[in-house]
Order: sequence, then C-alpha cells, then structure tokens
Amino acid sequence: MTLAQGTDNNARTFHPNSISELAFWSGTAEEREITFQKLRAEAPISWHPPIEGALIPSENPGVWVVTSHALIQEVSKNTQLFCSGQGFQMEEVPEDVNEAAGSFLGMDAPRHPVLRRLVSSAFTPKRVKAIEDQIKRQAHDIVTNLLEHPEGDFVEMVSKRLPMWTIYEMVGLTDIDKRLEAAHHADGMVSWADEEVAAGREPGEVLNESLVGLLMMGMELAEERRNNPQDDLMTGLVNAEVEGQKLTDDEIGAFFVLLSVAGNDTTRNSISLTMRALNQFPEQKALLLEDYEGRIGTAIEEFVRWVTPVMTFRRTATEDTVLGGQQIKAGDWIAMIYSSGNRDESVFENADQFDILRDPNPHVGFGGGGPHFCMGNFVAKIQLREIFDNLLRRAPNLELGEPEYLTGNFVRAVKRMPYTLR
Ligand code: HEM
Repeated sequence: MTLAQGTDNNARTFHPNSISELAFWSGTAEEREITFQKLRAEAPISWHPPIEGALIPSENPGVWVVTSHALIQEVSKNTQLFCSGQGFQMEEVPEDVNEAAGSFLGMDAPRHPVLRRLVSSAFTPKRVKAIEDQIKRQAHDIVTNLLEHPEGDFVEMVSKRLPMWTIYEMVGLTDIDKRLEAAHHADGMVSWADEEVAAGREPGEVLNESLVGLLMMGMELAEERRNNPQDDLMTGLVNAEVEGQKLTDDEIGAFFVLLSVAGNDTTRNSISLTMRALNQFPEQKALLLEDYEGRIGTAIEEFVRWVTPVMTFRRTATEDTVLGGQQIKAGDWIAMIYSSGNRDESVFENADQFDILRDPNPHVGFGGGGPHFCMGNFVAKIQLREIFDNLLRRAPNLELGEPEYLTGNFVRAVKRMPYTLR
C-alpha cells in the first residue's frame, strides 16, 4: 500500500501502520511508540481509517493523524484553520454529548475566549493560595492514611483521591457522598467503553447517565451558591462578570462537567505513572531527593512529558489547506498525538529517557500551545509537587506491581496498580 504523503485528497490511502483499531489502544505506551516513531520518520501526517469502537457510526471517511511535535504545535495554534467546535475526540461522539460535555474546550472564538476569561476571573490570587494550602493538607493526609495500610491498590489509595478532593473542595462540593457520586460520574465520562465500568450496560447509557448526573450536580450547586454565597470557586463562577457578560446556568453546568473530567483523570494517571517511573529509574528518584525543592520544577515537566496522560485531541479543518505537505479538505479531521510529539527525537535529546533535569522541556502534555492550553496546569503542578514530596520522603520503601490499563485513545489510564510498603 502506498503512503498518503504528497498525494491528492481524492487519492488518499490509509497508512499501512493503522492506529485506528481498539487493539492498538489496548497495548502499552511502549508498544504504541514503535508505530509512532515510524510515523514521525515516514509520514508525520498520515491518513487512517475511522477510529474503531465509537458510540455512533463515523460520517467521516478517515482521520489525519499528526505525530510530529512541530505539526502538533502548528495545528494547536492555528485555530482559524483547525477548529475545536466540531468535536475534539478522535472518534465520532453524538453532537448533543459534545455540546453538553465539552464546555469551552469544544468552542472557538469568539465564545471560547469570553468563557475562558470569565472562568479565569474566578481564580483570584487569594483563591489560588487557598487551593495550594488545601492541596498541601490533602497530600499529607493521603500519605498518612497510606502508611497505615501496608498493601493495597495505589490508584485507589493515592492517585484517585488527591485530584477528586482538590477539584471538589476547590469548587465547593462539600458533601462527601456527593463528591464520590461526582467522581463516579466523571469516571463514566471517560471509561464508558470499558466493560468493567459499563457492568453490562450499553456504553451510550453509561455516558448519558454520567453526563446528566454531572450537569445536574453543577447546576444545583450554582443555584445553591447564588442563594448562599461561600468562599469557593462556584460562588466565583456565578458572580463572574467580564465586560458585562455572565455565565449562564447551562454554561456553569458544562464547566462543572469539564472540570470533573479534565481535573480528575489527568492528574490521577500522572501520579500513578510517575510513581512507577520513579521506581523504575531509582537513580532519577535519588537525584530528585538530593535537592527536592531545587529540582521538582524541571522534574514535574518531565513527569508530564513522560506520562503524557492526555494522549490525543482532535481538530476539524475549516477550509481546504495544506498541512505538512499534505492536502487537507474542509471538514477533515486532524488528530494530534501528544504522546508521539513528546517523544519526537528532533526536539528532545534522548527522548526515550526519563530525565528529571531535562531543561528546556517544551513538551506538549498540556497541549500544543494554542488558546486551549490546559487551564488547570498550575493546579496539576501543585498536586504533583505536594504528593511526591510526601510519598518520596515518608514512604521511601513503596514498591509497585504491574499496572492494569484501561483501553482508550484519550486518557492514558491505569485502573489498578498494587503497592506494598516494605
Ligand atoms: C497533569 C494533568 C493535566 C494534563 C496533562 C492536562 C492536559 C490538558 C490538555 C492536553 C488540554 C487541551 C489543550 C489543547 O487542546 O490545546 C487541557 C485543557 C484543559 N484543562 Fe487540563 N490537564 C491536566 C490537569 C488539569 C486540571 C487539574 C484542571 C482543572 C483544575 C484542568 C483543566 C483544564 C481545562 C479547563 C481545559 C480547557 C481549556 C480550554 O479549552 O481553554 N486540567 N488539559
């Protein structure tokens, strides 16, 4: 089969190394990297069949897959040519789900910058300081609890807890049962394809139930804070006003869904897979411990590059154009593979080595630098700094077993990972 490089759109052919099958995404990151490395070298933009396992049949004949660091940045930054408003996942998702779940992640200018500014205005320096203090406390308590249980599941005991506590305390969801319910729905939003999560239900049913559950919780909390303001993010959101504009209840509900999904799974998997990396490369762990305060800044960037918890995001071409020498038609889908960009050997020296002192480290783990660049990256960085400070110093003899991964092309997720304290 010929490669798609340099061919006309009408004659485009699927690349022989397809990444569209579920089997590809059920392997390990190391296995996938063999294919990505080949694609970066031969065809940094290549044409692939519609992604397998979508909830609804694909209307698109295929998807362009972008694997090089340079092209990921080009697509991320050029939002006029490559928009987010027609979905951001690699597979087909029902339109109403996209609209209700995406919040401003699935929007373009002019609405995207307005909503982003409104939400940002609720993150006052005072609130950020409160978030930091609260994360410090939570990280300490989580590791104290871990030390009382000499063995168990690291995901359940550590990785899952910190992001959930952070997000929901920050937003003002104080009721513990409601926090658990919200976190359960957030899981359903990204793991509906997983048989264990679906537990015999149709994937669409799981997704719908999770989405409606979160939307309702977000809107209820907004209503509550309007009547009874507190010192939390939700109160900030209902009162936020930029240039005479305020957020509607639907927009707040959708943002609650986005926050629940974007802020939970991402940091959770960063914690699990970073802990694994630090144990796999003990010399790096020792290097970090030698000067934690001095090295944790570069180390965190490397954690995010190494793990790349968000593996992909998709855009849609708004007009006919050329990308990486390839003819793109208006309406074509373009998937950015961040995991591949973060191993691009033309940007990262010894890209396949975990190096906590790597500097500069222009990874695309938080996005390729466009206007959708991760808005919660500062929250994620505080969480990583605090949890590893506690874990490395207070649980130095933590041993890990093999992780069990979730199948999917969006978040690189670990379901379970056994630990033992020696
Ligand atoms: C290590 C943890 C995290 C990673 C790797 C990550 C990654 C990402 C990525 C790749 C994007 C899309 C960027 C793009 O399309 O250009 C994104 C967007 C976003 N993230 Fe994160 N994220 C993390 C943690 C968080 C946390 C903790 C929060 C919330 C507190 C958060 C909130 C958001 C929001 C609101 C957006 C949408 C921004 C927009 O569309 O303008 N993220 N994140």
